[in-house]
Amino acid sequence: MNTALYIHWPFCLSKCPYCDFNSHVREKVDQKRWKKALVTELENSAEESDGKSLSSIFFGGGTPSLMDPDTVGSLIEKAKSLFKTDETLEITLEANPSTVESERFKGFNEAGVNRLSIGIQSLNDEALMFLGRRHSASEALNALKIAATYFPRYSFDLIYARPDQTPESWKEELSKALTYAGGHLSLYQLTIEPQTAFATRLKRGEKMTLEDDPAAALYELTDDMMRTAGLPAYEVSNYAAPGQECRHNLIYWNFGQYIGIGPGAHGRVSRSGAKYATSRYKAPETWLESVETKGHALQVSDLLSPEERLHEFTLMGLRLTQGLDLNRLYEETGLRVEEAYSPQALAVLEKEGLLIQTSSHLIATREGRMRLNGVIEFLLS
Ligand SMILES: C[S@@+](CC[C@H](N)C(=O)[O-])C[C@H]1O[C@@H](n2cnc3c(N)ncnc32)[C@H](O)[C@@H]1O
Ligand code: SF4
Repeated sequence: MNTALYIHWPFCLSKCPYCDFNSHVREKVDQKRWKKALVTELENSAEESDGKSLSSIFFGGGTPSLMDPDTVGSLIEKAKSLFKTDETLEITLEANPSTVESERFKGFNEAGVNRLSIGIQSLNDEALMFLGRRHSASEALNALKIAATYFPRYSFDLIYARPDQTPESWKEELSKALTYAGGHLSLYQLTIEPQTAFATRLKRGEKMTLEDDPAAALYELTDDMMRTAGLPAYEVSNYAAPGQECRHNLIYWNFGQYIGIGPGAHGRVSRSGAKYATSRYKAPETWLESVETKGHALQVSDLLSPEERLHEFTLMGLRLTQGLDLNRLYEETGLRVEEAYSPQALAVLEKEGLLIQTSSHLIATREGRMRLNGVIEFLLS
């Protein structure tokens, strides 16, 4: 069974006001201590699962571009010694585009990283300020140029549906972004997450995002522009030239197996046909102490019930534009489509143009993907 490995680096230089990822600002990080602990947890976690063949490693965060390239290199080497890999192994690292980190891109490449995912967020200085980013648009473009020099594959993230953003201004920004694109872009609509600074401002009555209708119009515009540019959507917020899809994320969306290490990292691991949801201690210091005393910081390893497997499989699979694979549905849940979902619910969703069923897949249409939470709730109710 092919496995993906996720490694979480929980530190950032500052906390962005929209972000609810497990990221923390610390004055000083003892890189040597963290390297040792991550390598220890990696060794320990390799015993956790049946799959011993690795097809992807993903350094996510937080800001993994703040890791020492040497730490990244040691983890890659250790993973290669614990799992079977081949030359197609995808090794992605998430990076922030500040100048200092861009200069480190070369080091990451030498450490074995072969794909970079850069958090550009916007190419507009005013929007970057609104999003609380530390970089300017020109630094972002410079980071993209350096990424293109060192990495055969790179992607970047943009956040749109910002308050008062017009179709014209987004069209201009996205057109510019496309001139710098490698084979992949992640284009996220701004969401207001609980417990963030943006959530507080929203509660105070400030307008923090676009309303639903203009945001839906931008989603359609994005979808059309990306298709025309030869990077069609392959997932709700992800666009790629054929063959350039992110292998790591495809494993998540196909409900495959992944091991997660580092603070707060989640995993889905298979053992003897059963599937477990794992998670690690979230607070960096608690995680570190646990690894240093026990060799791992596993906090939860829950057997997924058949209902939970169906729920997750549906949630993930319908995000993909190719849809949810009905053979995989049977493999994962032992259910055929008409047993998994109510035929009446399926008929209503098909009639409303939100779902399409083929002999091999259940597919959310573009309209369906825009209202995916509602579609899934109705389908599984
Ligand atoms: C782990 S985060 C960021 C990686 C990196 N630290 C950075 O900021 O460049 C991955 C991506 O999620 C997106 N994201 C995070 N919070 C978001 C939100 N509230 N709304 C939309 N996109 C969000 C951003 O585009 C971000 O680049
Ligand atoms: S968006 Fe990235 S840099 Fe900003 S707080 Fe979140 S993880 Fe850190």
